[in-house]
Amino acid sequence: MIKMSKIPILKGLERTEKEKREALGRNQPLLLSLYLDTACNLDCIFCFLDSKKSHRNEQLSLEEYKDLIQQSKELGVRSTLFFGAGEPLLDKKLFPLIEYSNELGLYSVMFTNASLVTREIAERIKDLDLSVVTSIKSRNPQTLEELTNVKGSAEKIYTGFQHLLDAGLNETKSTRLGVDILICKQVYDEVPELIRYCIDNNIYPMVESLLWRGRAINNHDRLELGDKQKQKLSERLRTEFPELAGERAYFDGSACDIDHYTLFVNYNGDVWHCFSRDIIAGNTRSERLEEIWNSPSLRNLREKSVDPSCDLCPGRRYNLEKCLHRK
Ligand SMILES: C[S@@+](CC[C@H](N)C(=O)[O-])C[C@H]1O[C@@H](n2cnc3c(N)ncnc32)[C@H](O)[C@@H]1O
Ligand code: SF4
Repeated sequence: MIKMSKIPILKGLERTEKEKREALGRNQPLLLSLYLDTACNLDCIFCFLDSKKSHRNEQLSLEEYKDLIQQSKELGVRSTLFFGAGEPLLDKKLFPLIEYSNELGLYSVMFTNASLVTREIAERIKDLDLSVVTSIKSRNPQTLEELTNVKGSAEKIYTGFQHLLDAGLNETKSTRLGVDILICKQVYDEVPELIRYCIDNNIYPMVESLLWRGRAINNHDRLELGDKQKQKLSERLRTEFPELAGERAYFDGSACDIDHYTLFVNYNGDVWHCFSRDIIAGNTRSERLEEIWNSPSLRNLREKSVDPSCDLCPGRRYNLEKCLHRK
């Protein structure tokens, strides 16, 4: 018998269909996704970013980021996502920007590999009332380190994650703790177990298929599941977690509407269609966010409806084609 369970929802990311429709009708974005510096202490073989080395010289200043957050608030944004572009905890601007978002009444969500989370940082996160999505790809240290490509990182990651649990981030009704689960060869057998762990512990399971960009391309053959494995895993997930398939548009990389209500800003001010496509709609150093949001390039995206029968998100298809072409 299949155990049906409710998938925890992450505070800050819980956008309902109604909310999204209304925002589209009012021509308002709901999320601001900001890339901070690219510096990173890990070297994940699947990373789709140009992470590791800092690009601080080209990066927006603290004041420029603040101005962007203020402008996005005026446009209707409700949450700020601190997504990358490396490890956000290595960027000193992170906490001042979260504090500023809070002052404006915006909710923040940050992504982190968790390895730098100390007890103090976990407490600070708790007090600032933000949500955190952690990158815990495996509960097996050898597998995790094969993926992070840094010896000794697994223990640091598990310790950081434990600090977040100790701070009680998974104790609120809409949870404030998530785990980004990546479907790849190394964790093929473990994915259902990771999702079950999340559900049982009120942690949001963010199940993602691979985006073929950055280092992921060089490691395509190491990471990519065979067709049979994909089919088997997908059937297993649909049977064991049917409610997840309905809830997560990215579950199998299928049709996704994130570009209808999100502003994606790179560390140098470039505004993208979506973080999965390097198509630039404008730059915040020379234009107001409102102008960029209303540019023909982004308007066209929002006017296109999402095709529910689409079997691969446009960004994933775009990158897969580029990746296969390069091989
Ligand atoms: C790019 S990272 C940046 C933040 C932080 N360094 C971290 O690892 O969480 C944000 C999320 O993207 C995920 N990610 C990285 N490369 C990916 C890829 N090729 N396909 C799908 N997701 C990926 C990571 O696992 C992580 O959960
Ligand atoms: S996924 Fe995150 S932790 Fe891993 S290399 Fe990329 S930016 Fe760093």
